[in-house]
Amino acid sequence: MKVNSLTKLYCLIGNPIVKSLSPTIHNYIFDKEKENAVYMAFNIEKKDFENVINSFKAINVKGFNVTIPYKIDIINFLDELSYESELIGAVNTVKIDNGKLIGYNTDGLGFLKTFEERNISLKGKNILILGAGGAAQSIALTVANEGANSLTILNRTVSKSEILVRKIKDKFPEIESSYGSLNETYIDFKNIDILINCTSIGMYPEIDKVPIEINKFNKNVIVYDIIYKPLETELIKSAKKEGMIAIGGLDMLLYQALLSDEIWLNRKLDIEKIKDTLKRRILLENVEVI
Ligand code: ATR
Repeated sequence: MKVNSLTKLYCLIGNPIVKSLSPTIHNYIFDKEKENAVYMAFNIEKKDFENVINSFKAINVKGFNVTIPYKIDIINFLDELSYESELIGAVNTVKIDNGKLIGYNTDGLGFLKTFEERNISLKGKNILILGAGGAAQSIALTVANEGANSLTILNRTVSKSEILVRKIKDKFPEIESSYGSLNETYIDFKNIDILINCTSIGMYPEIDKVPIEINKFNKNVIVYDIIYKPLETELIKSAKKEGMIAIGGLDMLLYQALLSDEIWLNRKLDIEKIKDTLKRRILLENVEVI
């Protein structure tokens, strides 16, 4: 793609962003879709945040992604929020439309797409989430919104899992939700349908660790690890060894990016196909994932 005076700019802001895969993913998509657009990542200090947002408006940036630690801070600068971003209470995608800033959240939707493509419904499921950070919050509220039967949140810092459960109870009082620590013993693990790891355990450099022992669960449990670096965590490996359905984090990452592109470009993309092509390329060429 040739950059010229008509090239549209899309960005990522966060801190740190140095290891982000987003520029690789979005520039690949823009190229394949023949969009005259580029995607750049910027490491932003908190003190500069407001100036950066105003500058994006001034120089006619078309849209941007927001990552840690700004997914909540950005809300103060937005003119409108999508249903999902309001539900989750965080924004990862912003579209700038005639100077108006509209916030979206594609993290939860990206997670849902990975179930949709496997024809798995979340309705009526008993779900255990490990972690209570930003990713856990997106996924917990998303699965609650999909009609999960019960939600259990376990976290190293129990007070954070309690706060998250309070948010879930607030919006979804009909869902049985409970919290505890990562080594909680009172839980009926055999009754869990879907286990989702949203902690950093299993990520580099802690690649040889698992957040929970897989043998506590029923063989039919679906094991989901949102970590994509490494592509297969110890948790995923041990679930596969037991013959369980195991889903790693790369599909969700690619889907959330593609859903952001659909918002920015204002058209439907063949996202399943592009996701698979991108995934193959990342797996074959080992593009910055490991
Ligand atoms: P993200 O946006 O990926 O969710 P985050 O908000 O920083 O990132 O959340 C990280 C999650 O991983 C938290 O649940 C964190 O637990 P604490 O709330 O106790 O900090 C969890 N986590 C990170 N490192 C961990 C470790 N070594 N052991 C257990 N949990 C860990």
